[in-house]
Amino acid sequence: MFQGKTVGVIVPAAGTGSRMGGVPAKQFLDLNGKSILLRTLEHFQRSDVIDLVVVIAGESEMDATRGIVSTYGLSKVVTVTRGGVERQDSVWNGLQLITKHTVDIVMIHDAVRPFISQDLIESVIAAAVKHGAAVPAVSPKDTIKLTNGELFVQSTLERNHLWIIQTPQAFQFPLLRQAFEKAQAENFYGTDDASLVERLGKKVKIVPGSYDNIKITTPEDLELAELIAKRI
Ligand code: CTP
Ligand code: MG
Repeated sequence: MFQGKTVGVIVPAAGTGSRMGGVPAKQFLDLNGKSILLRTLEHFQRSDVIDLVVVIAGESEMDATRGIVSTYGLSKVVTVTRGGVERQDSVWNGLQLITKHTVDIVMIHDAVRPFISQDLIESVIAAAVKHGAAVPAVSPKDTIKLTNGELFVQSTLERNHLWIIQTPQAFQFPLLRQAFEKAQAENFYGTDDASLVERLGKKVKIVPGSYDNIKITTPEDLELAELIAKRI
């Protein structure tokens, strides 16, 4: 609970990891002695503000995922359910399931971002309680330019206004449910969960994220992740 509000987390872990290029899917890869998925789930298990967790797994990985949950005593995980074709479909499956559990705040976090802190979890939830929707972000370190179709620069974007968006993202549950219902009905697919809330014309608050909070996507990321895991 956070300030008397029940908080549920949805962890989409049903991707195939095609950019990592291999079997098993990247969430099951070992990172200095512990799988990426276990590292991620442990943050929520030990959090004082998280009440329950729903994990979304691939069809062929349901048993492996349930195995991790039971072996490591992840008692906050109330359900492991099947994913869908796109990440958004996987989160949607989780949202329909979490309805049973009367949550006030829903947090959504990629299984493949194992380097989150308790402070980050709490600051995102606090901002969602206050503003309805909140996402962590960091500033880009590089200059970012906009191009036309032929790869000529159109303009250089004002870096102060640009943000690299991460998860966990948190939302007041009725707002997120409304956003997902509209997106699914209209067959709109966003690249993150907050973008569906933006489509309702609602505000999304940015809170400071962390450069360590990488999404493990390609083999280079795995090398970097090994270094981060040693350090934190
Ligand atoms: N995810 C999911 N269901 C999908 C696709 C993705 O639950 N249909 C999850 C992934 O398991 C991951 C998170 O969403 O935890 C972020 O997605 P991404 O990094 O793109 O993972 P993959 O889709 O597995 O990788 P790729 O796009 O390279 O295939
Ligand atoms: Mg993907």
